[in-house]
Amino acid sequence: MKQKITKAVFPVAGLGSRFLPATKATAKEMMPVVDKPLIQYAVEEAMAAGITDMVFITGRNKRAIEDHFDKAYELEATLEAQGKDELLRLVQSVVPKHVNCIYIRQAEPLGLGHAVLCAKPVIQDEPFAVILADDLIDGEPPVVKQMVDVFAQYQCSILGVQDVPRAHTKQYGIVSSTNLAHHIERVHAIVEKPKPEDAPSTLAVVGRYILTPRIFHHLEHIKPGAGGEIQLTDGIEALMRDEKLLAYRFDGIRYDCGSKLGYLQAQVAFGLKHEEIRAGFAEYLKTIA
Ligand code: G1P
Repeated sequence: MKQKITKAVFPVAGLGSRFLPATKATAKEMMPVVDKPLIQYAVEEAMAAGITDMVFITGRNKRAIEDHFDKAYELEATLEAQGKDELLRLVQSVVPKHVNCIYIRQAEPLGLGHAVLCAKPVIQDEPFAVILADDLIDGEPPVVKQMVDVFAQYQCSILGVQDVPRAHTKQYGIVSSTNLAHHIERVHAIVEKPKPEDAPSTLAVVGRYILTPRIFHHLEHIKPGAGGEIQLTDGIEALMRDEKLLAYRFDGIRYDCGSKLGYLQAQVAFGLKHEEIRAGFAEYLKTIA
């Protein structure tokens, strides 16, 4: 029987140190692009792919994420009393009724692979998506939907990838692969953050994964890798020895909102698309170009 993806894991326990002091008391995933926090873009991407269970792997200082996806009684009552119906609907639509939000605390920052392993009690024996909210990707259809469609056909783990400049390989998991079909690669090797001279290619994993539950077995057994952390990449490398692994060259523009430059680029791109402000913002940009 063909399996469906109904759960997504959002590792959100990271410290966000590149955005200090903004992230001193709040989550980096709550930083807005125009008027929506990064984590909401990620959850909307999952919802657009038909995913209904959102599993957040959180840590200290991440309470704002839970509050954001919770009912806001006082705010809703105030908006209602003021007759601000449109805003009320906007606030209520953050999480539709059919969507469940589940929170698991990752007590120690032991790495992305460890964060994903924390989701095992909820995911159990199903394939699932992993979405890194600081990789904001503008795609139509949204990238997780594209990947879920590829999964429907191949029923195996899939990594979202794009080419990056060779000088940047040390920021990413890099795959070595051969072309299988349009936009689809068969992966033969994956390595975490190689130096440009050691990188097997320039095809980088960027924050979107579909994984089979077999990954948990490997995450339980691998040793700490790059940076002394339990790396998701190392778990995937072990998984690849048991099962087929694909990489999918997604359609869409990716903004690295884990970096200041990428975050500002996202603000400009999304500002220029935002119904309320795009005309005024475009005018403004002309004056400073
Ligand atoms: C993580 C992964 C890396 C991946 C990257 C995508 O790294 O470990 O393999 O390419 O996300 O953004 P991080 O950015 O957390 O250092």
